[in-house]
Amino acid sequence: MKTNIKQELRTMWLAAVALFISIAFTVTIAFLFFFRSISLTAEQVRAAAPMTFGIILIITALFVAGYAVIRYITVIRPLGKINATLERVSAGDFSERLTEDGTYGNFAPLVKNINRMTGELETSALMKTDFISNVSHELKTPLAIINNYGTLLELDTITDEDRKEYAKSVTSASRRMSELISNILRMNRLENHPLEARREAFDLSAQLEECLLQYESVWEEKKIRLDLDIADEVEIESDAELLGLVWNNLLSNAFKFTETEGVVGVSLMADEQSVTVQVKDTGCGMDAETGKHIFDKFYQGDTSHAAQGNGLGLALVRRVIDLVDGEISVSSVLGEGTSFIVKIKK
Ligand SMILES: Nc1ncnc2c1ncn2[C@@H]1O[C@H](COP(=O)(O)OP(=O)(O)OP(=O)(O)O)[C@@H](O)[C@H]1O
Ligand SMILES: [Mg+2]
Repeated sequence: MKTNIKQELRTMWLAAVALFISIAFTVTIAFLFFFRSISLTAEQVRAAAPMTFGIILIITALFVAGYAVIRYITVIRPLGKINATLERVSAGDFSERLTEDGTYGNFAPLVKNINRMTGELETSALMKTDFISNVSHELKTPLAIINNYGTLLELDTITDEDRKEYAKSVTSASRRMSELISNILRMNRLENHPLEARREAFDLSAQLEECLLQYESVWEEKKIRLDLDIADEVEIESDAELLGLVWNNLLSNAFKFTETEGVVGVSLMADEQSVTVQVKDTGCGMDAETGKHIFDKFYQGDTSHAAQGNGLGLALVRRVIDLVDGEISVSSVLGEGTSFIVKIKK
């Protein structure tokens, strides 16, 4: 766009110089012809001089006025409008847009860029407000729990059993808050810093098995059967720390949304160029509408599990998959189960 404007300015200058030279040339030729055809005495020249001077003055004034009008229409007025709009934008009104119908002549590329910039500003302002209201909303519930159970714990009349129960609720609410804050910080790090995924060789099979082991207590408690098909010693070159976030989130979802005695399956397959990890479950599944939003920040489709987590897990997963240049797909049937497939280059 910058080069476009530069090019146009150069063309404008060339056109102006060419016009000036051709007018000067034509006028000179006309005068030469005129002087050849007449012979004037000194008296006549003196008599005609004031009139000639007056006419030249009028013609110059007309030219200057014409130039001023053209400059006002093509430069001053559009720049004034652009400036007024930019002043409103800088005061915080990001809904301002300039018309892109040719009104701004040579400034059209500038106008297009200004509109793009205000559009971006409007979106990020909306996202910021959304983000603040989502975080406040997510913090409210655990804070209310801590507040209520904390007050109950102060009573002398409660039994030991109740005290244990209330203390457990306080601990789990504070854990939820701390998870929320960790996820927000992770999201912030992944989104706002131009982070490059590291490329180092590591054993993906071992990483998947380690991640799985963290859920041992859950699968034992819920009597979930594991269906594992993890190829041995699959080595890839990627960012182990970031990919750890992906497996943890996919596994935590699979175990969370699968009821007692369900099945959670994890498989890892490798070919020459890539590896494919599948995490599937026989849990509650989701409808098509939920499926469209699962990667949005703070989106939680299944309200019965809303108290567990904040809907940031899959948003993080998507961001990591983009960073490591991978692919993720999901297929799900409501009431039957869900399957996530992640493909990464080796
Ligand atoms: N395996 C799954 N089975 C059924 N629904 C799922 C599954 N995985 C994700 N979902 C749906 O997608 C939503 C978003 O998932 P995500 O992991 O982002 O959030 P969360 O698990 O609710 O919270 P968090 O990950 O922050 O603990 C879930 O609330 C759920 O509705
Ligand atoms: Mg999750």
